[in-house]
Amino acid sequence: MVRLYLASRNPGKVSELRKLGSYFGIEIVPLDLPKVEVQSESLEYVSLFSAVNAFLTLRKPLIVEDSGLYIEALNFFPGAYSSFVYRTIGIRGVLKLLEGVENRQAYFKSVIALAAPNLPEVKLFTGVVYGVIATEPRGSRGFGFDPIFIPEGSAKTFAEMEEDEKNRISHRGRAFMELAGWLADNCSKVMCYSWT
Ligand code: IMP
Repeated sequence: MVRLYLASRNPGKVSELRKLGSYFGIEIVPLDLPKVEVQSESLEYVSLFSAVNAFLTLRKPLIVEDSGLYIEALNFFPGAYSSFVYRTIGIRGVLKLLEGVENRQAYFKSVIALAAPNLPEVKLFTGVVYGVIATEPRGSRGFGFDPIFIPEGSAKTFAEMEEDEKNRISHRGRAFMELAGWLADNCSKVMCYSWT
């Protein structure tokens, strides 16, 4: 079994990623590393930077996941600043910004960065889920903006779904599937023999 350390302090993300790992025989081990986070509009850049930093400390196979909510009517704000916006104005603040706004289109994006010994570069895996912003919060599961995000093709918000249901369609689930596919294709015994 491949073991990947996960540098994250967000319990919602940790739970989802551990579950996702279990579907593919990948053991995800959360780690409480001090997070060196760079300010950038690019999730790719943020996750790459964090993965390099975490790897310099740990020197073991690890992943970092960065994600954000992009709202069309707000020129794709808050994007890479989603955790700051969640901590400051929160769900209520976002709904206020969208009061009277008809265009509720939005998407979540997730970037997973993989760094490991024997890997010549950090690999990035991306997942996106399109949907709309609800007019009021619904549901109590998940985390962050889950109560106001209704994914395309569903009547439920992410917070009204079981974790498995969210994982099947979420940005994080999609990015993880890319990672699992890459590992299945590239993780030969020679390269990944020490990834346990
Ligand atoms: P970061 O990736 O730790 O910088 O945080 C991303 C922020 O985006 C989180 O704190 C949430 O507010 C939001 N977010 C990312 N993914 C999700 C999700 O799956 N559900 C709800 N909110 C999310």
